[in-house]
Amino acid sequence: MSRRVPILTKLLGATLLPTVATFAGFGLLAHYIARRSLEEGLGRRLTSVAQAAALAVRSEQVDLLQPGDEESRAYRNVRRKLTELRDATGVQRIYLFDPTATSRGDTETLPIGARYYALDAARSELGLVFAGTAASSVLFTGKDGALYKSGFAPLTPLEGDAGAPRVAAGVDGSAALYEQLAGFRRTLFAASAAGLTFMGALSIVVARFITRPLRRLERAARAIGEGDLTATITATSADEIGYLATTLDTMREQLRARDERLQMMLAGIAHEVRNPLGGMELFAGILRDELAGDMEKLAHVGRIERELGHLKTVVNDFLEYARRARPELTPTDAADLLREVHQVLAADAEREEVGLIVDAPHPARVACDPPQLRRALLNLGRNALQACEAGGQVTLGCSVDGARVRLSVRDTGRGIDPEKRAKIFTPFFTTREKGTGLGLAFVAEIARDHGGTIAVDSAPGQGALFTLHLPRLES
Ligand SMILES: Nc1ncnc2c1ncn2[C@@H]1O[C@H](COP(=O)(O)OP(=O)(O)OP(=O)(O)O)[C@@H](O)[C@H]1O
Ligand SMILES: [Mg+2]
Repeated sequence: MSRRVPILTKLLGATLLPTVATFAGFGLLAHYIARRSLEEGLGRRLTSVAQAAALAVRSEQVDLLQPGDEESRAYRNVRRKLTELRDATGVQRIYLFDPTATSRGDTETLPIGARYYALDAARSELGLVFAGTAASSVLFTGKDGALYKSGFAPLTPLEGDAGAPRVAAGVDGSAALYEQLAGFRRTLFAASAAGLTFMGALSIVVARFITRPLRRLERAARAIGEGDLTATITATSADEIGYLATTLDTMREQLRARDERLQMMLAGIAHEVRNPLGGMELFAGILRDELAGDMEKLAHVGRIERELGHLKTVVNDFLEYARRARPELTPTDAADLLREVHQVLAADAEREEVGLIVDAPHPARVACDPPQLRRALLNLGRNALQACEAGGQVTLGCSVDGARVRLSVRDTGRGIDPEKRAKIFTPFFTTREKGTGLGLAFVAEIARDHGGTIAVDSAPGQGALFTLHLPRLES
């Protein structure tokens, strides 16, 4: 059977999975949009600082600077302006460079003529800048491992200089936006967690609301399966579950009516067959008295009496099997019960010259209907005795086997061949001339009604072992 997944789990899955997916999808989208807009904002800010730097320094001032001029007044002047702008705007670094990415001024200590290798990654943006447009780079990781972005703007070319800009300003700004994003992520996460918890709680309430009547129906159906046809099943809603409840109740009512008819029929048989049988026995007895001395006719009467006796047994067994009541369970020591069975069978065993012993050294408590369980053990014991020849041996055993009590009947008789073994528990299967074939069917039903199992182990000529397992009662 496939693994049972409760409807409650399925419902929770059906509601929570889309919710999780939606929250995750919206969360990622919101995060992406926030990141994009923060990044663009930073780009714009850095570009405008670069434009301010490009305006603060005149192109001709920078043009004249040569490597080694770091200590010159002109350079210090340029650097002062850039540093002031840097401090006023809170960016990390401002620098000037030419189209070969060579430094022409820097708020840091890079000498004139040194290369900005980091700018190699921004080649396409620099193309735009030296064509006259301001631009910003993508985010990049700086030497300190933090995220940075750069803004670039060209310095205005000299008046009358028709060529493209020869110097541009670059501004590096730390992407502290990342911290803002982390804050945003935390808020997003907290909101999603709160939303999911709420949805989860709501789903559980709704799922329970839906599955409660189903569980009630499951219990009702199980009760019907166990033979309790008395409890009415009422529909509590006007939906499919309500319809199912009504259908189940109709079925229960029909089964109860059928059961009633069957019981009436059985009562009819009990009356219509048993009474004439009694009469026939009586008249056979009278005939026996009247034929006293006529041995040949008396033999015929004896035959009639034996057949009548068998018929009575069959009718009684049949009625007992068909009208068996539901077991009334009481705590009982199965070992005691087995000793009672031993006492009942002892005379039969002695007559058949079969050894009969009980092996039940310890108490073993079970919840059982004592007359029914005694009946089952008697059937097993009788079968075992019937299977044995004189000199055979039957052992009635009782032991505790974990959470179960193991009752066994072992014999040294003729055994059962595999093909018969499959049929012996079906009603009316018998190999005995005077058997009804109801003994083991009875045992199987009693085992089932007690929440237990019956099993047989046998090989032809090797005897048989019947094992009845019942749930153990903790004492
Ligand atoms: N211990 C056993 N050894 C060998 N065969 C057995 C044993 N127990 C049962 N059987 C076989 O199973 C058949 C069915 O047994 P079951 O007790 O149901 O009916 P029965 O003994 O034939 O008749 P009755 O209804 O009188 O008990 C028997 O006829 C016999 O063939
Ligand atoms: Mg039997």
